[in-house]
Amino acid sequence: MSTMPTNVQVPADASRLPMTLPRLFEKKRHGEPIVMVTAYDHPSARAAEAAGVDLVLMGDSGAMTVLGYPSTVAVELDELLVLAKAVRRGLNNPFLVGDLPFGSYEVSDEQAVTTALRFVKEAGCDAVKLEGGGETSVRRARAIVGAGIPVMGHVGLTPQTSTALGGYKAQGRTAATAARIADEALALQEAGCFAIVFEAIPSGISEALMPRMEIPVIGIGAGPAVDGQVLVFHDLLGIREGLGARFVKRYANLLDEMVAGVAQYTQDVRERTYPGPEHGYSIDADELAEFRAQLAAR
Ligand code: KIV
Repeated sequence: MSTMPTNVQVPADASRLPMTLPRLFEKKRHGEPIVMVTAYDHPSARAAEAAGVDLVLMGDSGAMTVLGYPSTVAVELDELLVLAKAVRRGLNNPFLVGDLPFGSYEVSDEQAVTTALRFVKEAGCDAVKLEGGGETSVRRARAIVGAGIPVMGHVGLTPQTSTALGGYKAQGRTAATAARIADEALALQEAGCFAIVFEAIPSGISEALMPRMEIPVIGIGAGPAVDGQVLVFHDLLGIREGLGARFVKRYANLLDEMVAGVAQYTQDVRERTYPGPEHGYSIDADELAEFRAQLAAR
């Protein structure tokens, strides 16, 4: 990556160390913000690597951002594994978390462990994430941890089950629903999760919960009190249409630039200004003459 803004500090490659679970906990202990971003392919992984993020989530949001599904519900495990493998090939230092898709872990502990093993063995993920903190998710998290695979939990707005939650909206805005989120977060922590995502919950609820959280908490729409933040790659770079959720901050408008680039190319081809002489390959004049003669003789 050559066009790094001059006001942004990125540690030199040589000074970076691969992210490990002990380093992650050290960051929490020292109060150093943890940075996570999603990635779904080789270019997004390379961007995350070059920017020096700590954690990369191959999120099931890839169902929407790169595969064009209307939600995360329908995406198949094999589709996400293809994306995860591409991300793995683009990363050296960040810790890679693979997101278990809906329907790939709920049925039984055996199904959950089998799916998690595929993310680790086939795609090279360091850990997996699953959604929800109810009885089933907690049991599955414990089973996967028991099989030796680190698990990241995810509470609050859990998109895979957003229909059951009443839609794609903030959670825990009453004392009773916030108490349920607290129970879920603590149960996932107790089940051995190494970290947890809090999505779309009031900042005050995160703040109240933080003293109880011994594992790193990564927020998305959960305010500043948590240990780190995650954003969807396509949201933060403005690659997808629409404004997105309230918590999205846009750091670029790449979709506009992509459309402008393709539009310019379209115009150049139609006006025959592309390709120019500099884009073609030359041939020795004698060879060309010989070729023309041979062609004419056929
Ligand atoms: O899939 C995803 O992008 C996620 C993040 C929103 C945490 O689960």
